[in-house]
Amino acid sequence: MAGNSILIIGGSSAIGQAIAKQCSATGATVSVISRRPRLQQANPEWHWFQDETPTEKNSEQHIRAALKYKPSTIFICNGVLHDSLGMPEKTIRQLDTAILAQRLESNLIVPALYLKLLFRYITTTKNIKVLVLSAKIGSISDNGLGGWYSYRMSKAALNMLVKNLSIEVARLNNSACIVAIHPGTTDTPLSIPFQKNLPDGQLQTASNTATRMLMVREQLLVSKSGALLNWDGSIIEH
Ligand SMILES: NC(=O)c1ccc[n+]([C@@H]2O[C@H](COP(=O)([O-])OP(=O)(O)OC[C@H]3O[C@@H](n4cnc5c(N)ncnc54)[C@H](OP(=O)(O)O)[C@@H]3O)[C@@H](O)[C@H]2O)c1
Repeated sequence: MAGNSILIIGGSSAIGQAIAKQCSATGATVSVISRRPRLQQANPEWHWFQDETPTEKNSEQHIRAALKYKPSTIFICNGVLHDSLGMPEKTIRQLDTAILAQRLESNLIVPALYLKLLFRYITTTKNIKVLVLSAKIGSISDNGLGGWYSYRMSKAALNMLVKNLSIEVARLNNSACIVAIHPGTTDTPLSIPFQKNLPDGQLQTASNTATRMLMVREQLLVSKSGALLNWDGSIIEH
């Protein structure tokens, strides 16, 4: 069972919404920070903070307001693989530095900004768990296929951010645990263009993925802090 208060950042994400739903079904307090206004399907009991343009100045007030609900678990769900700007690159010849900059912004800089603003809370809250949604393809040692430059690079950097932060946090709060986690291939807008040739059973519903993420959260040990975890809680080498 999830802790009794959870904060979901990037909370309009299909996986984030499914996590929110499951947590509120167990009676947990749910707070959401999203660039988007409250989604129509959002439970009216959720505390929803719209952070339309995340910047140090804008986001601080939303973080402060959300932390009033004293979350024991924080998920960061931000991540973009494709959008109207472009699809993932098959070759470096397709690399567009403006799109690369956008992917670094949504997949690395925005999570880094929130983690910076959460630092004091993370270092002063006993047993806090922070799970940052990353991707297995951000593992350098696991990369056997190549391609998808911007997404891979931004997620690899995100994994380093989590590792680095875990070291700094441990010096101040040895009960805190912060991990990057690969949610597994999930049926959301992010994966829709890539669902055709998946092996049977790989594609999960957002609800199944949320159940898996919350299961990992329940079993999370401080000794895993800094790791990149797979959806089943096993470690993926960086
Ligand atoms: N679906 C999969 O198969 C899969 C596989 C591996 C990893 N993941 C990772 O899981 C996480 C959630 O993905 P999802 O499948 O639920 O995707 P999704 O429904 O497309 O959600 C997109 C997420 O990205 C955020 N976002 C969109 N544009 C942004 C921007 N310009 N700047 C900052 N944030 C932006 C949204 O935050 P707002 O609430 O602020 O709009 C939302 O949290 C992502 O980190 C993704 O990389 C997904």
